[in-house]
Amino acid sequence: MRDEIVAHSGCGYEPCETATRTVPGEGNPEAAVVFVGEAPGKNEDELGRPFVGRAGKLLDELLAEAGVVRGDVWITNVVKARPPKNRDPKAPEIAHWMPVLEREIELIRPQLIVPLGRHALKHFAPAAKIGEVHGTLLEERLFPLYHPAAAMYNQTLKATLFEDARALGALLSR
Ligand code: URA
Repeated sequence: MRDEIVAHSGCGYEPCETATRTVPGEGNPEAAVVFVGEAPGKNEDELGRPFVGRAGKLLDELLAEAGVVRGDVWITNVVKARPPKNRDPKAPEIAHWMPVLEREIELIRPQLIVPLGRHALKHFAPAAKIGEVHGTLLEERLFPLYHPAAAMYNQTLKATLFEDARALGALLSR
């Protein structure tokens, strides 16, 4: 799958055509937890790896708070190519990449899926609102968190995110 994602081109969707490179998921393919972000940003686009910029640094801190190491989990995005100027991915672009995310999750069969932010959450639980369900267990295997990028400049959200990360850690050690 990784080779397929890396070689992806020629589909005509704007992010896939304008990105420097596509960004496959990475981590432990036998992970118990899969973290799902929205789409690669500038740093991810340059390095070809998910969550390696500032939001990634915060995600690393959240993982530490939850007592897990990056290499033990799987980290991926709904859309695997950076939308121009980091705009939100459009519905057809999300639909274009959705089968890839679904196959990824099917192969890994995680106990828990952690959608990061409302865009990722929308795919897994369309009616749920991130402000209401963050830090709680939904449908037996969903544990939504606010997106780390949203908390970067909001100390209240950041505190909530760390609190939720501790709840995630408690859930994983059950
Ligand atoms: N934000 C995301 O949603 N994904 C990344 O990989 C980086 C930042």
